[in-house]
Amino acid sequence: MTAVKPNHHTPAPVVVDLSVAALRARLHDALSVYVAAMDYPRGTEHHRAPMWNEHTTRAGWRAVAAVLPDDAGAVDLRTAPLLAIAYGYSGAPRQWWHQQVHTGMRRCGWPEAAARELLADYFELTELHVHPAAQGRGIGATLLERLLAGRPEAAVLLSTPEVPEEDNRAWRLYRRAGFTDVIRNFVFAGDTRPFAILGRRLPMPPAGERA
Ligand SMILES: CC(C)(COP(=O)(O)OP(=O)(O)OC[C@H]1O[C@@H](n2cnc3c(N)ncnc32)[C@H](O)[C@@H]1OP(=O)(O)O)[C@@H](O)C(=O)NCCC(=O)NCCS
Repeated sequence: MTAVKPNHHTPAPVVVDLSVAALRARLHDALSVYVAAMDYPRGTEHHRAPMWNEHTTRAGWRAVAAVLPDDAGAVDLRTAPLLAIAYGYSGAPRQWWHQQVHTGMRRCGWPEAAARELLADYFELTELHVHPAAQGRGIGATLLERLLAGRPEAAVLLSTPEVPEEDNRAWRLYRRAGFTDVIRNFVFAGDTRPFAILGRRLPMPPAGERA
């Protein structure tokens, strides 16, 4: 995908649900948004593609995207420029992430019963990325709300890199959406960077109705 540089003349982005087939067809573009948003080195796309593909097979998988409609306001999902992508699935005990978080919760003092209760029924928000050229316009908040709407799980969990003073858009977005700490400064096996695991109960009220 070529770089997307929305300006005053571009039509407003449209948020859409993505089927497995639609995401697979646009996987390269979705991964390009992810690499640009996270400022990862080029080539990261190739490592992540098999994992994103595999995730589409997990129970409860759901994806949403923000795309630019054409001049007539129509959206052709095969070609529409992709501005943002988010997906997740139901957490389950055999998943690596679930096991890592369970271990981390026990290490940081969560009572086993409480950890089990939370991990028994949650949606893992696996990825949420907005292309840098499209950030700061509420697209991330809209994708988050759409992805979580009507979920059957009791809670949503996610991980995000620790940053000083929680001073980035991801942290502000999650705090505004009512996410609270589950584990802080957690280092996943095989990684060196500290992450926070954040969560909130579902359903998540619409932005206007949140305290
Ligand atoms: C984190 C991320 C997904 C958030 O998406 P986003 O669209 O930029 O975020 P928001 O929807 O919250 O909008 C961001 C800003 O726009 C403002 N905003 C929200 N709605 C708005 C609207 N309708 N119109 C104008 N501005 C709006 C918000 O106040 C917010 O300001 P702040 O972040 O300074 O507090 C995105 O910035 C991103 O991909 N970042 C890089 C990668 C990353 O950190 N990913 C998460 C890792 S877990």
